[in-house]
Amino acid sequence: MTFYQIWVRSFCDGNGDGIGDLYGVYKKLEYIKSLGVDAIWLCPVYPSPNADYGYDISDYRDIHPDFGDLDVFRKVLAKTHRLGMKLIMDLVVNHTSDEHPWFLESRKGRDNPYSNYYIWRDKPNNWDSLFEGKAWTYDEVRGQYYLHIFSKKQPDLNMDNPEVREEVKGIMRYWLDMGVDGFREDVINFISKKEGLPDGLPFLPAINGMFAYKDGPHIHEYLAEFREVAKEYDCIQIGEGPMTTVKTALMYLTGKNKSLDMMFSFDHMMADCFYTEYIHHPFDLKKLKKAFSKWQYSLNGKAWNTLYLENHDHPRVISRYGSEKFHRESGTMLAACYIFQQGCTFIYQGQEIGMTNIRLRDIAEYKDISSITNFNRYHVNDTIEQRMRRIYRSSRDSSRTPMQWSGRRNAGFSRVKPWFTVNPNYRRINVEAQENEPDSILNFYRKCVKLKKSSAALTYGRYREFFPGSREIYMYERVYKGHRWLIICSFAKHNVIVQLPKEYAGAEKKLILGNYPGTDPDDMCFGPYEARVYAFR
Ligand code: GLC
Ligand code: CA
Repeated sequence: MTFYQIWVRSFCDGNGDGIGDLYGVYKKLEYIKSLGVDAIWLCPVYPSPNADYGYDISDYRDIHPDFGDLDVFRKVLAKTHRLGMKLIMDLVVNHTSDEHPWFLESRKGRDNPYSNYYIWRDKPNNWDSLFEGKAWTYDEVRGQYYLHIFSKKQPDLNMDNPEVREEVKGIMRYWLDMGVDGFREDVINFISKKEGLPDGLPFLPAINGMFAYKDGPHIHEYLAEFREVAKEYDCIQIGEGPMTTVKTALMYLTGKNKSLDMMFSFDHMMADCFYTEYIHHPFDLKKLKKAFSKWQYSLNGKAWNTLYLENHDHPRVISRYGSEKFHRESGTMLAACYIFQQGCTFIYQGQEIGMTNIRLRDIAEYKDISSITNFNRYHVNDTIEQRMRRIYRSSRDSSRTPMQWSGRRNAGFSRVKPWFTVNPNYRRINVEAQENEPDSILNFYRKCVKLKKSSAALTYGRYREFFPGSREIYMYERVYKGHRWLIICSFAKHNVIVQLPKEYAGAEKKLILGNYPGTDPDDMCFGPYEARVYAFR
């Protein structure tokens, strides 16, 4: 199964105000279908003051006026279904916006019906917010502090309050009744906080509270309640799990506490950084391979992996793990390296044409709260140039520039000036140009998706990695009922002679897919970022 993720604000502007919207999504559904996609994940489209672009929700049952209204949403949903695809929504219930009516009520005092919907304390603990400063903000009106793991404008809901859980179930039902097929559940492993909210470790800036709110004491009970609702509708639930480990993921995905169908983990997104993309180191292929293989081996036969390299929270993968110089080569190689693993493929808008990171001159031109606060919070004694270089490597805004549809004005995203800067490389990198180019990244994505779907071995086969010590080659097999596939990916900028594993030497092989047109299948000299997919008998 293949998902396509849409971050609507930057996908396609359908009504000509410079902001991507659901009219634009409606227009582009055939394009999405043409990729071989089975389902769409829509990032939050609800009313939101946009402190965190939609992840701060002020009304769970409506559509942001920038994006359209419930009517156009229903049309998008119906057309998605007509085209044979499913649609899932983002369920963001760890926190709301501080402009949500529940919060506006809650802050009024300790004796209103919503007073216990959020986490209020007279005395804050030492937790840091992931986005800015301390995780507690004093509210003058109520005369207490409220908890916000993310920005000040994203107060955490008190999930220990059964009424809050009822609200969540009501929200799920509302969208499921409308025909939605499931949810991507935002930071879902954060929703149950440790009793007493103990102080965190002071030497872990930003994440010092994490051990008290990640996988908290009642998480399985609460998720079991939500699972009941999901079961009534037979819908899919995919949880986002920052810092999740294989061990904890298996608790959510298997056994008596099974409450999610799949989980987004982050290990493989840290091959060039430590726990946040803002603290980076040179790309380390061994680290990437280790993360891939760990999840592949551990979930095999037990649960289904989510396979992704990009989303709205990570900079563009070519700029990170590939090479902007070898743009087509590395963009296609990266596609092959993850899609043929075991699991469900996710493609993020623009990834399929190899969009790259944006480099704006001034921090004031950035929009994402975490980029801006990182800039102002860490390494403040470095030069501005050094700090901007960090932003170029780490900013979430790199994945939020307008989708590059064509080489025409505003990249074909909008008739008017877009809400956010278009990457100047749109004249070279865009959908229209790649449609007409048989060997483009776009067409390679199509081939990968199609090939995977056509083969039981590439879908269900056992995964095994070869030569894990190599700093240039990532090689793995997928084996199922006598069918063997070998996926070989070079991460080198130079030619590399590739050796086959012993058991493959001399076997009859067929080159089914590669990113160097006209390759001789028996010549094992790989060009820069070359990828090949062989079938063996
Ligand atoms: C998730 C979202 C991210 C958001 C955060 C807070 O990580 O993917 O975009 O900022 O949660 O809601
Ligand atoms: Ca618009």
